[in-house]
Amino acid sequence: MKKKTVCVIGLGYIGLPTAALIANKGFLVSGVDVNNKVISTINKGKIHIIEADLVSSVKSAVSSGQLKAFNKVQLSDVYMICVPTPFHKNEGIPKPNIDYVISATKSIASFIKSGDLIILESTSPVGTTEKIQQILIDCGANLNNVHIAYCPERVLPGKIMTELVENDRIVGGLTSVSTKKIVDFYRLFVKGNIFETNAKTAEMSKLAENSFRDLNIAYANELSMICSKQDINVWNLIELANKHPRVNILQPGTGVGGHCIAVDPWFIVSQDFENTKLIRTSREVNNLKTRWVIDQIKSNVDKYFLKTSIKPKIACLGLSFKPDIDDLRESKALEVAETLLAEGYEIFAVEPNIQSHKNLSILNSSDAIKKADIICILVKHREFLQPEIKSKLIKSEALDFCGALS
Ligand SMILES: NC(=O)c1ccc[n+]([C@@H]2O[C@H](COP(=O)([O-])OP(=O)(O)OC[C@H]3O[C@@H](n4cnc5c(N)ncnc54)[C@H](O)[C@@H]3O)[C@@H](O)[C@H]2O)c1
Repeated sequence: MKKKTVCVIGLGYIGLPTAALIANKGFLVSGVDVNNKVISTINKGKIHIIEADLVSSVKSAVSSGQLKAFNKVQLSDVYMICVPTPFHKNEGIPKPNIDYVISATKSIASFIKSGDLIILESTSPVGTTEKIQQILIDCGANLNNVHIAYCPERVLPGKIMTELVENDRIVGGLTSVSTKKIVDFYRLFVKGNIFETNAKTAEMSKLAENSFRDLNIAYANELSMICSKQDINVWNLIELANKHPRVNILQPGTGVGGHCIAVDPWFIVSQDFENTKLIRTSREVNNLKTRWVIDQIKSNVDKYFLKTSIKPKIACLGLSFKPDIDDLRESKALEVAETLLAEGYEIFAVEPNIQSHKNLSILNSSDAIKKADIICILVKHREFLQPEIKSKLIKSEALDFCGALS
């Protein structure tokens, strides 16, 4: 049987690994992006993001001719939408921004034919998959024997290539026939279990998973602020509390960043303000933690100034939203560094996973530690745990907001 052709729309952290994986499984894949730089990079067999094992996968998919990137949708049998779904940062409750999904949907409308599969992988508010169907109808597409489903991504940045294959998946079609057809497609490259449901349940499942994480991290962050006041090492405390057979407290940090956990709970809240007290509060606690980190640093600055009459230089170690990745989206560590910079502090930033930053001067760990008067560890990057760096950080009494020194 002839293999289906696949068009992946949006070649970022999700779309590109997915496109490369499927292409290396022998499907002819067209990757589509609105960013021409992304397209030319990929067509050279290179990548524009940092992700373990991605470069070799893209290189082999492109050199074998199975993957090619375009700036326009190509006629295919399967369309996978992997575009961003950020939120509108207006006043009040952040609202999901599904403009990219809408425009990606419109871009495929004229290509749709009988037998096609349309899959939404972007994290989306409940009802988006149905909206896709309506947009296609409004654009005049004939949806007879066309199958539409939502299939959320659960991959961990840094392990995307493995988790794309190994993770369990959920497929929620607009009809049970569509669910089954799209499950059959995923079975061609996913080794994990694939669970069938409807579109709305699948959409809510992704949002519920990320809100669960947010809520549990909020508890750890709240504990960290309580413990600091009581002069208790929160990381030791959590280690001890987790000896309880049914307790598993997560790790506190600089706040919760990234394009998923810090964003997706708002998708639920924006659809049901009344019933989301806990989810809202967790978001607020996690945002409060970032403010608390900034205040802690400033109070150390004040102490230093009182003692020396010199305005201290501050090193911010880590800018990404989690350890060992280059992704700065919604990063709370970045927010801390940029807030301090905007308030007139001299900041040296250390981010081993990026070369430069538009606002911050980036130094290597050793230089920053040598030059700064106050050192703040904001992200638990592997590099900061190396014995040589770690011992320097301990010696310089670094402020540890992520448990790197515990
Ligand atoms: N990155 C993750 O770890 C992760 C995990 C789970 C779910 N998700 C979800 O997956 C979706 C994609 O996330 P990402 O991290 O890959 O985003 P990304 O920003 O890395 O990539 C998205 C790409 O889509 C392109 N794009 C935007 N509009 C387009 C259009 N109309 N047509 C073609 N290309 C378009 C952008 O130029 C960009 O290259 C989001 O909904 C996100 O929440 C991401």
